[in-house]
Amino acid sequence: MADQLHSGSDSAAAVWRNRFAGQVAIVTGAASGLGRGIALRLAREGARVALLDMNAERLQRTVEEFKQQDLSALPFVTDVTNDTSVRTQMAQIEQKMGPPDVAVNSAGIVGPTNTSIVDYPVEAFDNIYAVNLRGSFLITKYAVAAMLPRKSGRILLIASVAGKEGNPWMCGYSSTKAGVIGLVKGVAKEYAEQGITVNGLAPAVVMTDMVRQTAPEQVAYMTAKIPMKRLGTIEEVAAMATFIVSRECSFATGFTFDLTGGRSTY
Ligand SMILES: NC(=O)c1ccc[n+]([C@@H]2O[C@H](COP(=O)([O-])OP(=O)(O)OC[C@H]3O[C@@H](n4cnc5c(N)ncnc54)[C@H](O)[C@@H]3O)[C@@H](O)[C@H]2O)c1
Repeated sequence: MADQLHSGSDSAAAVWRNRFAGQVAIVTGAASGLGRGIALRLAREGARVALLDMNAERLQRTVEEFKQQDLSALPFVTDVTNDTSVRTQMAQIEQKMGPPDVAVNSAGIVGPTNTSIVDYPVEAFDNIYAVNLRGSFLITKYAVAAMLPRKSGRILLIASVAGKEGNPWMCGYSSTKAGVIGLVKGVAKEYAEQGITVNGLAPAVVMTDMVRQTAPEQVAYMTAKIPMKRLGTIEEVAAMATFIVSRECSFATGFTFDLTGGRSTY
């Protein structure tokens, strides 16, 4: 069992099967990559999961995969940059599934990479700001509002080591992820006495579509910085993310947890 827990493998989920029984969990960016992996683990551990993504076709495919595994999941096509879209879908989720116990924001984009600030298009900066930071703000704003009546909830925003350390040649990504870390620090203190925790998670490189869209030179730079000399896995992200949003993680708020194979040690 110890090996299973350390490997973060799928079978480790069996150990905790009921950790989220009776809970409603919202996951954005859930159609693929880290969001999908986190949602899968939450559902395997008993949560009823609201899957949010702007890619409707891919979202539908993901929900069908969940249903084939007898997991409880409903799709909500949502653009996290859009206030009306987020507000409307959060209300729909509450109506169809009940108030959320957990909200994980994993929707994000990488934007231009291997690009100096001189060459970084202004529209690309506005776009990455809207998804990574404004989206985090909107999801947190409506999740807190939905959790406040019961004075209970767990919110997790996926940041990045780029926000802690500052990766060169991707200024939009590094700065918006630093913004996410600031959002976590500040908002957590607003609700620290009201049963709602707000934390972040800062992974290094994990192979997903986002990384496949990143310039190879940029991926090589980021990978070389990892002392373990390997990429993280989606299962390792899901293992830490589900701990952070579990009831057990009750005395940490405002913190951005590290998942970088030793790159950042704070
Ligand atoms: N993969 C990595 O190495 C890595 C490392 C650190 C942090 N992250 C962060 O993890 C999160 C997930 O990334 P991933 O690697 O799984 O990428 P991914 O591209 O596989 O998944 C991102 C998902 O977000 C969705 N999305 C994008 N814009 C959206 C919007 N406006 N509204 C709703 N959904 C939207 C996409 O459709 C996609 O399904 C991101 O915030 C990313 O910055 C990833």
